[in-house]
Amino acid sequence: MLRGIVEARRPCRPSRKYCTPVTMSDIQLSHRAKKTPPSPIRRLAGLAQSAEERGAHVYRLNIGQPDLLSPPEFLEGIAQYREAVVAYETSQGNKGLVDEWCRSLNADYNIGITDQQMLITMGASEALIFSFMVTCDPGDEILIFDPTYANYIGFAATSGVRLVPLPCSIEEQFAIPTREEIERFVSPYTRAVLLCNPNNPTGAVCSDEELSMLIDLCRERGLYLIVDETYREFVYDGLKPRCIYQLAPKDPHIIVVDSLSKRFSLCGARIGSLITWNEEIRQGAFHIAQARLAAPTIEQHAAAHMLRTISSTYVGRAHAEYVTRRDAAVDALSAIPGVVVSSPAGGFYLLAKLPVADAEDFASFMLTDFSYKGATTFVAPAAGFYMHRESGRSTIRIAFVLKEADTREAIRVLGEGLKEYARRSAANER
Ligand SMILES: Cc1ncc(COP(=O)(O)O)c(C=O)c1O
Repeated sequence: MLRGIVEARRPCRPSRKYCTPVTMSDIQLSHRAKKTPPSPIRRLAGLAQSAEERGAHVYRLNIGQPDLLSPPEFLEGIAQYREAVVAYETSQGNKGLVDEWCRSLNADYNIGITDQQMLITMGASEALIFSFMVTCDPGDEILIFDPTYANYIGFAATSGVRLVPLPCSIEEQFAIPTREEIERFVSPYTRAVLLCNPNNPTGAVCSDEELSMLIDLCRERGLYLIVDETYREFVYDGLKPRCIYQLAPKDPHIIVVDSLSKRFSLCGARIGSLITWNEEIRQGAFHIAQARLAAPTIEQHAAAHMLRTISSTYVGRAHAEYVTRRDAAVDALSAIPGVVVSSPAGGFYLLAKLPVADAEDFASFMLTDFSYKGATTFVAPAAGFYMHRESGRSTIRIAFVLKEADTREAIRVLGEGLKEYARRSAANER
């Protein structure tokens, strides 16, 4: 029998012998809506807003919203849009954007991509949903590395896919398990492995050996390999950015998910792409894309203009800034007694284990009961990034998206908060 949402089939209303009116309380919400968790990144946002309304300055380390200015070339592209009617774009996406994006991928990674392999989506988010929908039927399984980008859990719930978590640990810098360990989780329902590289939330970056191992595994076991490369360019300590197609040119098992959100500080533009050399996957994704009509017209026009005119120094400067911020965050967190911190090799997040039993309670405390010199720090409790929630109970995720001085100050406030939280917890126990 199919698993997941299919298991939940049941009559949507209680059967009634007599024709009595049905009230709203008789009508059940879909199983998929009930299973979709709230975002752990946004869940405490209301508390942060209340703290601000009370006059506190809130350092927001909870969400991957960079403070770097979006490229002027994008805003120029918006200003230059001259059409009298804002019409639908084609379902595949703006031709100029597809061409420019392919050109830039070929220039940087020499992967031989043409417009036949790319579909423009509303952010990497939509590309991920398309990937789940084209590779899986309800009840099928995708292997993921745990902890994981929390929204994968939501995408899986909405598409009826069962995510199977492969545990990774902070003590091993969140390295992916060996092939033998991964194979133990492959079942007759497994359709794909999903890798986020560089990783959100762990900051881990796979070596070429690890990537090759996953490619071989997927080829030999007949699985798709979905690789989320949203943070591709942000790798540190001498690592080279990698597009997986460099290691497996034109491999039909692979689907790459890409995004302009983080690379160009364009989260609100909602532009991503799905890249595949697999003709069936491409057709399937294209038909789903047709059903949702198109991604936004003006933003695609502006993004095409941006990619045509922007200098390569934009991403280089952003990269240098994130190195500085990462170093500041790791340095400041390491100085707090009892905190265990991972040192991210990529992306702009890190996980830190705190000397508290429940990091969500601590994160709420920071927003409701604590301020230091008029400021407090908003962090994301990490349990929501773990399929095995218990494993992340004492952990927080920090996005190093604020300037170096703000990052250091935010973490100083966090350290003061930890002292106060411990003092109050001890007083409550007495
Ligand atoms: C790993 C990962 N994938 C996908 C996304 C979604 O990106 P987009 O804004 O392109 O939808 C994010 C956003 O934070 C992310 O961290």
